[in-house]
Amino acid sequence: MTVDLNQSLAESIEKLDLDAQRDRYEDQGRMIVIDDFLSQDILERLLQGMESVRGEVHRNYVPGQKKGAAVSRMSLDANAIDFGQVYRSPALRKFLESITGEELLDCLESDAHTYALYLYEEPGDHIGWHYDTSFYKGKRFTLLLGLVENESCAFECVLHTRSSEREDLSQSYKLKPGSLVLFDGDQLRHRVTPMAEGDGSRVVLTMEYVTDRSMNPWRKMISDVKDAFAYFGIRDVFFGRKSA
Ligand SMILES: [Fe+2]
Repeated sequence: MTVDLNQSLAESIEKLDLDAQRDRYEDQGRMIVIDDFLSQDILERLLQGMESVRGEVHRNYVPGQKKGAAVSRMSLDANAIDFGQVYRSPALRKFLESITGEELLDCLESDAHTYALYLYEEPGDHIGWHYDTSFYKGKRFTLLLGLVENESCAFECVLHTRSSEREDLSQSYKLKPGSLVLFDGDQLRHRVTPMAEGDGSRVVLTMEYVTDRSMNPWRKMISDVKDAFAYFGIRDVFFGRKSA
């Protein structure tokens, strides 16, 4: 059966109380988690897409900071177009703009992080504490959609670290399949805890939206080098995509 991704996303969004979600997002320092956001049909499409890019997974390791695997936007575009369609869904964009109060723009076509898969599949895979700092001139928002969950990897964050009026508040979430996390990348300190020996894989779809598509060339070079070595490999980031 063919699934209209935009229509299906619109139906999921219609069930939400937008005012309540917006209030919660602001109250938590521009961050929300929504369980069961994706309908089963979309989740299944994305899981099929995930299987079709198994050969495109790039392992990465940055001592003291992260260990894991990723599939870039370029590899997704070449092998599994559903991910890009979800990213560009008008219904999803309208929802995200309603929550954030910002006009949200696509990242540059050359940005491997625009939408990507993060995979935690070997013991010790994790990412340490960090902010999703924007290399663009404006704000950067991160959207995570849980695809496959395991026992040991938790999404942990500390709310209000940038606020002088609120106490820091530590939170820990399991991103079960279909769940959504949305946050302002420069505001939320977060990490993913290490995968334990004997545990199964965890896979998350990450998407990035910005308020200004410009980036000065020097910062673009730093961003590309970081993406090449810490995430996706030199071939995807500097040469567009892997060969089919
Ligand atoms: Fe992050």
